[in-house]
Amino acid sequence: MPKNRLRLVGALTAALVAVTAPSAQGLAEHRPHKPQTLADLAQRHGRYFGSATDNPELVDEPYKKILGKEFDQITPGNGMKWYATEPEQGVFDFSQGDEIVDLARAHHQKVRGHTLVWHSQLPDWLTSREWTAPELRKVLKKHIQTEVRHYRGKVFAWDVVNEAFNEDGTYRETVFYNTLGPGYIADALRWAHEADPRVKLYLNDYNIESVGPKSDAYYKLAKQLRAQGVPLHGIGLQAHLALQYGYPTTLEDNLRRFDRLGLDTALTEVDIRMYVPADEEKLATQAQWYADLTKACLAVRRCVGITIWDYTDKYSWIPAFFDGEGAALPWDEELRPKPAYYAIRKALS
Ligand code: XIL
Repeated sequence: MPKNRLRLVGALTAALVAVTAPSAQGLAEHRPHKPQTLADLAQRHGRYFGSATDNPELVDEPYKKILGKEFDQITPGNGMKWYATEPEQGVFDFSQGDEIVDLARAHHQKVRGHTLVWHSQLPDWLTSREWTAPELRKVLKKHIQTEVRHYRGKVFAWDVVNEAFNEDGTYRETVFYNTLGPGYIADALRWAHEADPRVKLYLNDYNIESVGPKSDAYYKLAKQLRAQGVPLHGIGLQAHLALQYGYPTTLEDNLRRFDRLGLDTALTEVDIRMYVPADEEKLATQAQWYADLTKACLAVRRCVGITIWDYTDKYSWIPAFFDGEGAALPWDEELRPKPAYYAIRKALS
C-alpha cells in the first residue's frame, strides 16, 4: 500500500476506534470476567482479607462456595482450641483443625492458628484439678509444641496467648497466670518458636483497638519481650465492636505504635454488632465502621490483614453470647451482601 493510503487507513481506524471503543469501565463491564473478590482487592495492597469458619458449617454448600471464593485467609473458629485438640490429657485430636486446613488449601487460602493458650474453652481434665507449677509447665509446653509441630508449614501465624489482660491492664488471673506467673507468656512464645521457627507468633485480645489501659499493657509487654529477645511477631486486635460503644477512633494511631516496635498487627476477629432488629441507619453506620477499620489497616504498613469472625450472620457467635444483639457481619442470614460488604470493597478499591 502506498504511504499516503496507509496514513489514511490509519486515520480512519483511529477515528473508528474513538467512536466505537467503550470506555475502560465499559470494557470491564462487557468483557466476561471474574468479579473481584475482597481477597483480590486486599492483595493489591499486600494484605489478606479473611474469615473465620467452623466445622459444623461446612455441610452448607452455598456457604462454602462464598467462603472459598471471597477470602484468601481462614481462621478456625473453634477447631484448634485446647478442648478440641487435647480432649484427654496427652491424647491429641487434630481432625477439626485439619478439616479446615484442607479446605483452605483447596482454595489457596492461608490459615491463622487460633489459639494455643487461653483461659476459655479448656478441657475438663485441665480445669477440674489443681496443678503445681512444674506440672502445669509441662502440660502447657507439651500442648503448645505438639500442636505447633502438627501445623508446621500449614498455618502462617499463631495466636499463642489469647486474652491475657483485664480491661484495666492488669494480668487476667487465669490458671496459667495464677500457677506460673506472668512469665508463662514469654515461655509460651519460646516453646512455640522452638516447634516452628518460621511461624509468626501473636498475642491476641479484644478491646485493644483503642489506645487505653488494655492496649497500653500490650504495648508495654511487647516492648519488654522484644528487648528480651522473646519471639513475638505480632499483636492481634480482635475488633469485636458494638455500635453502642462507639468507633475506636484511635485505632490507626494504636496500630502505628506497634508498627514502630517492629511488630505486625492484624484485625483478627472483626464483627460489628448492634441491637436487633437492624435498620437502615444502623446498617449504614456499621458499613461506615467496616470501611474505617479497613482503611486504618491499609494506612499502617505492618497491618498485615483483616479477618472477620465468620462472614455471615447465619453463623455469627454474637446472638448466642450477647443478649438482643446480632447482625454483626457483612453478609446477612440469607448469605446476601449487606451495605458493609460494599463499603469494605470501596475502602479496598
Ligand atoms: C467464639 C466462637 O466463635 C464460638 O463458636 C464459641 O462458642 C466461643 O468462642 N474471642 C475469641 C474467639 O478469641 O475464640 C471466640 O470465638 C470469640 C471471642
